[in-house]
Amino acid sequence: MELTHLQKQDEQLANLIKNETQRQEMEIEMIASENYVSQAVLEANGSILTNKYSEWYPGRRYYGWCGIIDEVETLAIHRAKELFWAEHVNVQPLSGSPANMAVYMWLLQPGDKVLWFSLDQWGHLSHGHPMNFSWILYEIVPYFLDKETELMDMDALEKIALETKPKMIIAGFSAYSRDLDWKRFRKIADACDAILLADIAHIAGLIAAGIIENPVPYCDVVTSTTHKTLRWPRWGIIMCREKYAKAIDRAVFPWLQWWPHENLIAGKAVAFWEALKPEFKEYQIQVVKNAQTLAMKLQDAGVKIVSGWTDNHLMLVDTFGSLWVSGKDAEHALEKVGLSANKNMVPYDTRPPMDPSWIRLWTPAATTRGMREEQMEEIADIFVLAVNNHDNESVLDEQRKRVIALCKDFPLYA
Ligand SMILES: Cc1ncc(COP(=O)(O)O)c(C=O)c1O
Repeated sequence: MELTHLQKQDEQLANLIKNETQRQEMEIEMIASENYVSQAVLEANGSILTNKYSEWYPGRRYYGWCGIIDEVETLAIHRAKELFWAEHVNVQPLSGSPANMAVYMWLLQPGDKVLWFSLDQWGHLSHGHPMNFSWILYEIVPYFLDKETELMDMDALEKIALETKPKMIIAGFSAYSRDLDWKRFRKIADACDAILLADIAHIAGLIAAGIIENPVPYCDVVTSTTHKTLRWPRWGIIMCREKYAKAIDRAVFPWLQWWPHENLIAGKAVAFWEALKPEFKEYQIQVVKNAQTLAMKLQDAGVKIVSGWTDNHLMLVDTFGSLWVSGKDAEHALEKVGLSANKNMVPYDTRPPMDPSWIRLWTPAATTRGMREEQMEEIADIFVLAVNNHDNESVLDEQRKRVIALCKDFPLYA
């Protein structure tokens, strides 16, 4: 990637960016949430749209000379509506957590009850964690997975909802590898007269491509990040029914944020356009095929996957129970060979959060590089050898060479 001006002006920073580019080129990214945007998105993000202030929404700006900016933001909104069949879309939230905050703050009163998939069960911090505003301001009630099947226990959720009568139920997660039953969520929300919020930060790309059922028709509000499976700029989005549109727009501006970052909204418009093309669907189909191949190969090698399968783009791998290597040691070994992955808690994990039993893996980034089933089989093999030999430098060196060869075969940015 050319950094001509930066190199002349600030060599130190240019070199840091080059080093990070080199790292990304030569490692296979399997940390759930990380993906690679296109060159077109990078260009829009770095464009001169960053120079313009554009307080408020298209057609209602406080400052003048926003005609072109209005067109950019309106384009992003139209494309998002088409992609998700949403009645109303707000593209201004700065990220996924502020998007959730805007929804909470405007649709709930302090002290209202919220039902969430608790953090140790893979809900997100911004839904109800004790260190987050959500816990401080609202009464947070958790729901859980079934301990035996490791699947979402919808009967138990229904029972908790009917007993506690929450004002809002959140369906959303950071590490669940199975499909959610949106219809059942809607039925449960209706039975206790609750608002239904889906946070689709992880699965939005699969939903946009029609691989996972779209929750938008079932939910009152849907929030998402745009940089995970969607492969868009780092950002947030809120979709909602028309009746909440005014409240959501007010919550984002002026309540929570002020000026939107139009260069990033432009990046999003480009990415929405990419997502409307048939290649995007092919990409998402391959993401799932790759995840299922990886899961199958790991299981063939005797490694347990949570719930035994993945319907989507990620999985949790039991390194401690299957290979007697803790999540932390496994993460170090994988780092040495160039497979970027993170240790992760699983529900009912008996080990501590900083050194849990599991590793979380995902395939969207490797799939963006063009990797297919054959490469997933090789990655599974490298994974098992690296974790099993986490203290054997010569085996780790050999695996590092295999990862470098794969990266060279599938370059990131030409
Ligand atoms: C389900 C879910 N919601 C929200 C977020 C927060 O997104 P952001 O990091 O953009 O604030 C994440 C991030 O990992 C997530 O997994």
